[in-house]
Amino acid sequence: RDTKEQVGSYIADYIVKRINDFVPREGHPNFVLGLPTGSSPLPVYKRLVEAHKAGKVSFKDVVSFNMDEYVGIARDHPESYHTFMFKNFFSLIDINPKNTNILDGEAEDLYAECHNYEAKIKAVGGIDLFLGGIGADGHIAFNEPGSSLQSRTRIKTLAYETIIDNARFFNNDLASVPRMALTVGVATVMDAKEVVLIVTGQNKALALSQMIEGSVNHMVTASALQTHKWALVVCDEDATSEL
Ligand code: GLP
Repeated sequence: RDTKEQVGSYIADYIVKRINDFVPREGHPNFVLGLPTGSSPLPVYKRLVEAHKAGKVSFKDVVSFNMDEYVGIARDHPESYHTFMFKNFFSLIDINPKNTNILDGEAEDLYAECHNYEAKIKAVGGIDLFLGGIGADGHIAFNEPGSSLQSRTRIKTLAYETIIDNARFFNNDLASVPRMALTVGVATVMDAKEVVLIVTGQNKALALSQMIEGSVNHMVTASALQTHKWALVVCDEDATSEL
């Protein structure tokens, strides 16, 4: 697509179709959607909200699982992924808040939180469509370079590049960017029936070329998607400049 808005519209229309075509079955009664945060998905959420307002889609039977959440900031912090999701998406659609799952970075037992998250995904029959973005270092969710491609939901220390990248959301103050996060693993994403990746902007061009044209390797964790049976990468013109 030419622009990030067009990427957003294309993906949103695609998701609307998937939700509307979904047929409930035993052990899998709801459409299960994996969701990202960051600036890349904003045009997708905007268009999904518009589609909902136009009566083209309902999220009332959709169950969602977010990819990740920071550790070390409160759930109601303006930059928490909880805040992001409710502000930009959940509060604007008819999803049941009880059907939205976001890792709790404030949980007393972070290991149990991660373990339970995987169990919850299993209990609803797995993720139908995992929507994702990509970090400038090629990460998916917070699976930083060096993460095992077999990884599951766990605690992860953020790479320095990611901390610098995300400082823009914290008044450019490096010291206030969380150092750790809870994140689904690469294998958690790979287990989804379908994965759709949003790649927009010049700053993602190198990551996109490494992910698609490089080898499958744990220094560019999104490259694991090369081996996924049903992965779709939607990018804008700027992101393709290194291909
Ligand atoms: C964070 C998130 C990723 C996201 C990435 C890119 O690291 N954990 O899931 O893909 O940011 O964010 P943006 O879309 O703002 O470039």
